Amino acid sequence: MSLKDKVIVITGASSGIGEATAKKLAGAGAKVVLGARRKDRLDKLVSEIKQANGQAIAQVTDVTSQEQVKSLIDLAVSEFGRLDVLYNNAGLMPISELHLLKVTEWEKMIDVNIKGVLYGIAAALPIMQKQGGGQIIATDSVAGHVVHPNTAVYAGTKFAVRTIMEGLRQEESQNNIRSMIVSPGAVETELYSTITDEKTKQNTYNSEREIGLKAEDIANAVAYAIDQPDNVSINEILLRPTKQQM
Ligand SMILES: NC(=O)c1ccc[n+]([C@@H]2O[C@H](COP(=O)([O-])OP(=O)(O)OC[C@H]3O[C@@H](n4cnc5c(N)ncnc54)[C@H](OP(=O)(O)O)[C@@H]3O)[C@@H](O)[C@H]2O)c1
Repeated sequence: MSLKDKVIVITGASSGIGEATAKKLAGAGAKVVLGARRKDRLDKLVSEIKQANGQAIAQVTDVTSQEQVKSLIDLAVSEFGRLDVLYNNAGLMPISELHLLKVTEWEKMIDVNIKGVLYGIAAALPIMQKQGGGQIIATDSVAGHVVHPNTAVYAGTKFAVRTIMEGLRQEESQNNIRSMIVSPGAVETELYSTITDEKTKQNTYNSEREIGLKAEDIANAVAYAIDQPDNVSINEILLRPTKQQM
């Protein structure tokens, strides 16, 4: 089965990479099931996709709740009969140096960026195993490969996601379950808005606007991976803006 007609759940679909990917996949004929916390943004996206003759449904989902993640994934099966792809994309990036002791933000990053991905895997795996296959994708990051001052905890969550997804690949390849991470460098999205350290926030905003990729660039990479034949498992796409050094 190619991308067309696949049933694809996307978390963090209300803005940025998730939103652009929802539009791209629905535009190619996939049935998309969208989750995030902001209902107004999800409703607007669903109506835009429908106006363009695409198929989309949405449900308010906080990925820190295992129950809500399971309910979103179960919705895909009850509405469209199966689950072909889970795209665990929700994330946040309140970066700061460790000595600032923003412990609540560290906890949030762990809850959303790591545990959110695990809850997605927990809900999708039994369905995909029963179906005889599927694909699980997570948005990782260049920060899943390198750490800088400011990014210790954020990069830690993305290193963890890379590790978990590789473990998933090894365990589930025999069950025809493909796993992949997409690892972007700077992308022009709303991600900077979760940074509370003002100087870091401004610097991040400036560099994303100066050189950042567009969310659509990441959507293209995700669509490419989903569109491969079942025997081809793309396991990572790492993409940086050409002018990004590290
Ligand atoms: N932008 C970059 O430079 C960059 C680079 C590498 C990797 N990434 C990764 O890309 C992914 C998407 O980020 P983005 O750049 O597209 O930023 P974004 O525009 O801020 O999108 C983040 C998405 O995550 C959702 N989200 C946040 N907390 C959530 C929660 N508790 N439950 C459910 N959804 C939640 C947000 O929706 P609600 O607020 O409506 O819940 C939003 O839809 C993240 O995993 C991020 O780490 C981004």
